[in-house]
Amino acid sequence: MTEKVQKATDFIRARIGEQKRLAIVLGSGLGGLADALQDAITIPYADIPGFPVSGVASHAGALMAGHIEGAPLLLLAGRVHYYEGGDAQAMAVPIQTLKALGVETIILTNAAGSLRKDVPPGSASLITDHINFSGLNPLIGAPGNERFVDLSDAYDPALCARFRAAAKNSEAELHEGVYVWFSGPSFETPAEIRATRVLGGDLVGMSTVPEVILARHAGLRVGAVSLITNYAAGMEAEELSHAMTMKVAATGADNIMKLFKAIISDLNANPL
Ligand code: HPA
Repeated sequence: MTEKVQKATDFIRARIGEQKRLAIVLGSGLGGLADALQDAITIPYADIPGFPVSGVASHAGALMAGHIEGAPLLLLAGRVHYYEGGDAQAMAVPIQTLKALGVETIILTNAAGSLRKDVPPGSASLITDHINFSGLNPLIGAPGNERFVDLSDAYDPALCARFRAAAKNSEAELHEGVYVWFSGPSFETPAEIRATRVLGGDLVGMSTVPEVILARHAGLRVGAVSLITNYAAGMEAEELSHAMTMKVAATGADNIMKLFKAIISDLNANPL
């Protein structure tokens, strides 16, 4: 463990009490989960040694500990994106710190554009695999053979199955697809979206993939869900903007909250 991670771990452990096995990273539009957190202890990233602070409006930037549906968990409200400072390793310390704190499973969420007409804005989609279109990798420069991480089952198949069951049981709508990471911050071009479709992508976004790679490197079990905020570039006349991302995210909030309450309580009752 690096000194940075040790310091962050000690700092957080002294403040959050009992160990948490589950952590959820909240992307754009998933803030409702933070509101649902009971016995919440909130620690701003700015206070945690080594934690990066996001500059994106709507990404709060705090680690929260508490309970949802009686289940203990950590929430990372906000994340730093590659496009903010050009650092693909921006989330390395937070993710390694979760592992050091005893977290076993991390669920990443994000806002994404949909390439599929049958997956409209407002819907939720399980990420079953990814394509790293950025060409970047957060493990470049990492030491040792551990850096050659196997990503064959990066999106844990057992956790994916639990998500499908949780969606069914809670009557939440859950699509699934392959997420393609573009660095952003500009949106994609229509030609890039046509290329992405040919390559087998269903969703596009500007986050998550570096964290998935870091989390698998750290030995965490990974799941990921996108909240669809728009059809991808060129599919509709409407202009793409962050404001629209936030507006549409709100329309899908009820469905995704239902889904997350169900999976949180299921993972607590029957740990993987
Ligand atoms: N592209 C990239 N990132 C996004 C999109 C998109 O269409 N929508 C929300 N985040």
